[in-house]
Amino acid sequence: MGLFDVHSHLLPGIDDSKAKWEGLEEIFRVYLDCGLDGVCFTPHLYNPHVKTDVLGIREAYARAKEMADRVGIMTAIGSEVYVNDYITPRVLPIFGEFALIEFSTTYAPMDMLGKIASLKPFIPIIAHVERYSWLEPDSAVIDEMKALGCLFQVNGKALEKGGKAERYVASGIVDLFASDCHGRKEDIIALSKAFGRWPDIMKKMSRYGLTR
Ligand SMILES: [Fe+2]
Repeated sequence: MGLFDVHSHLLPGIDDSKAKWEGLEEIFRVYLDCGLDGVCFTPHLYNPHVKTDVLGIREAYARAKEMADRVGIMTAIGSEVYVNDYITPRVLPIFGEFALIEFSTTYAPMDMLGKIASLKPFIPIIAHVERYSWLEPDSAVIDEMKALGCLFQVNGKALEKGGKAERYVASGIVDLFASDCHGRKEDIIALSKAFGRWPDIMKKMSRYGLTR
């Protein structure tokens, strides 16, 4: 099984990534040392707080992939799409199959369920589910999201603090962990620790086709 980090911002100069080309190979080596086999780059799309060089994604990905190949880390390209009140999102799907989506942390967008449903045929992944103040593990809307086929992702780093992230894991609804790494190695290390602590999540990821 090839275990992937399916949520990261590691393409230099593309979004709010802090990664630099000079340091990227070292970051890939951290993945290797942590026992992870691959990384999926998921640049922000439509995020009102982040400027993304959409036209530069393909070229940056090709360059990063070449470096990762040398280190022995698999790669994939996707996106993290911000769903707000106004936009019907278009996505760059992870593995051609999964739509990673995020929301405002302070309010749920209008017609959220309708917007999620419109992502079909892609399988929606709710990014860092622990982050939304308007959502709780026992919220009724979680069941409605599940009914639409949503998978729920928690950031490895958030689990270091316990709190809401851990409550989500304890509730059994979490399907995957990821780093959401913007260039800090600590986030990759935290992700591998989370996998070590909750190995069942790796099994879930494999079952859903989130491994390669
Ligand atoms: Fe992210």
